[in-house]
Amino acid sequence: MPRPGSAGDPLWYKRAVIYELPVKSFYDANGDGIGDFPGLLEKLDYIEALGVTCLWLLPFFPSPLRDDGYDISDYCNVHPSYGTLDDFRRFLDAAHERRLQVVIELVLNHTSDQHPWFQRARRAPAGSVERDYYVWSDAEDRYRDARIIFTDSERSNWTWDPVAQAYFWHRFFHHQPDLNYDNPTVLQEVLRVIDFWLDLGVDGFRLDAVPYLIEREGTRCENLPETHAVLKAVRRHVQARVPRGMLLAEANQWPADVRAYFADGDECQMAYHFPLMPRMFMGLHLEDRHPIVEIMQQTPAIPETCQWALFLRNHDELTLEMVTDEERDYMHLAYSADAQARINLGIRRRLAPLVGNNRRRIELRNSLLFSLPGTPILYYGDEIGMGDNTYLGDRNGVRTPMQWTGDRNADFSRADPARLYSPVIMDPIYGYRGINVEAQERDASSLLQWMRNLIGLRKLFPAFGSGSLEFLEPANRKILAYVLRYGPDAILCVANLSRSVQPVELSLSALVGLTPVEILGYTDFPVVSEQPYFLTLGPYGFYWFELQRRDV
Ligand code: GLC
Ligand code: CA
Repeated sequence: MPRPGSAGDPLWYKRAVIYELPVKSFYDANGDGIGDFPGLLEKLDYIEALGVTCLWLLPFFPSPLRDDGYDISDYCNVHPSYGTLDDFRRFLDAAHERRLQVVIELVLNHTSDQHPWFQRARRAPAGSVERDYYVWSDAEDRYRDARIIFTDSERSNWTWDPVAQAYFWHRFFHHQPDLNYDNPTVLQEVLRVIDFWLDLGVDGFRLDAVPYLIEREGTRCENLPETHAVLKAVRRHVQARVPRGMLLAEANQWPADVRAYFADGDECQMAYHFPLMPRMFMGLHLEDRHPIVEIMQQTPAIPETCQWALFLRNHDELTLEMVTDEERDYMHLAYSADAQARINLGIRRRLAPLVGNNRRRIELRNSLLFSLPGTPILYYGDEIGMGDNTYLGDRNGVRTPMQWTGDRNADFSRADPARLYSPVIMDPIYGYRGINVEAQERDASSLLQWMRNLIGLRKLFPAFGSGSLEFLEPANRKILAYVLRYGPDAILCVANLSRSVQPVELSLSALVGLTPVEILGYTDFPVVSEQPYFLTLGPYGFYWFELQRRDV
């Protein structure tokens, strides 16, 4: 029987603040150089004090780790480097006791080529149910209209298998064969995996790479109706077992295409807003609100029970798939002049280095992340302004050990430094001696303390996350201003996207008589009148105002 999750609120994910982390990078309790579940358990105090309400764990299952665990060889176990299933259970119970939800990865699209399903398939007779767990072809000529995603490392979506004497289909690395959802047995297997983790008590799944589940000749093999039918079946199954179980779609697509993953509220409850992410960076570099406003205006309404997942950075490169060619060139010019920072179509850098380690720019980007409509996802380490190491290969440069103190190995592990799964960041600006949790806990004006405050404030006002969005159109385009409304509550957000002081006149005729109270300092501003509301904002400054009705 499923164990009850800790979420009392059926729409918990709409009010959540999510913290994304790889178990291997967080804290190493047994000193073997690799982070583990007992280590994560020890650090729950830190996570609770940060104020986030939900953890999203990157893949922690048995795997040859050729795609950092997205190449799974056993869906129902824990990679021995990270601990045991019992360690996972202990961690999950402890997280739930603290009212933290836990979302794990469900990699539906593909397995590792080491998975027993693939090993059996390649040896099974062509046409058998076992062979058809995957997608095969005698020639490389099928599904020619499907793009290649890992353009730096793969030349084709087909790879020859000498055992099967056939080509198998893969949208990602050639060691990650795609599962075949035209075979109903495959979905049955996946539903068993879902039950396994739901019964342990997880609160939701991030559905990795969902647009690619089904292939059809003559299409791009993305977002097909048959793929949505599979996802609806997954949702029905989850819903029946754990009604509060949340599905988060990873669909790196345009808003109109992502909209379909919410369906009528009967598919995924959440989906990432991929196109917004680069536009937050673009708007800030251009010092113009246009890219942000435009993409939000193109974003269709979603069902009441659904929610966008917003992020600035994650474990992958900053993807530039959902921008035009011109915009991509611009982003590379602005953010990855150093070619070492580029991978596939994106930029493999963390937040702080992307913005030149400028504290005001970090704060401004977070103010957007935490106030635009959706649930914010914070990537581990970005709350202390961690740096990256673009020389580590693939996307490993943004997956280095969490920096706890200025001691050896950043106090991530007691292992010999040579034994760590990855070197810690050591450069003079972002190195662990300067950037670490301990130092920032002692410093009242550190980024960490600022982030804790912001997260706490965000949780006080349901208009964040659940409110409706209306942009204002002041003449000064360096200013981004919007009103969030939730029932009788209203919040006004004003951000200066530029490096210099800016004046702005806002027409707030719908808010006349209300008193704006600046939320970070709890400071009263003049009552809104029929006149344009005049504000000045410092470089990269932003205001969040609660609009209070004061009866005289
Ligand atoms: C998703 C993951 C990425 C992984 C890929 C293939 O895009 O975020 O890290 O490499 O799927 O599984
Ligand atoms: Ca360990």
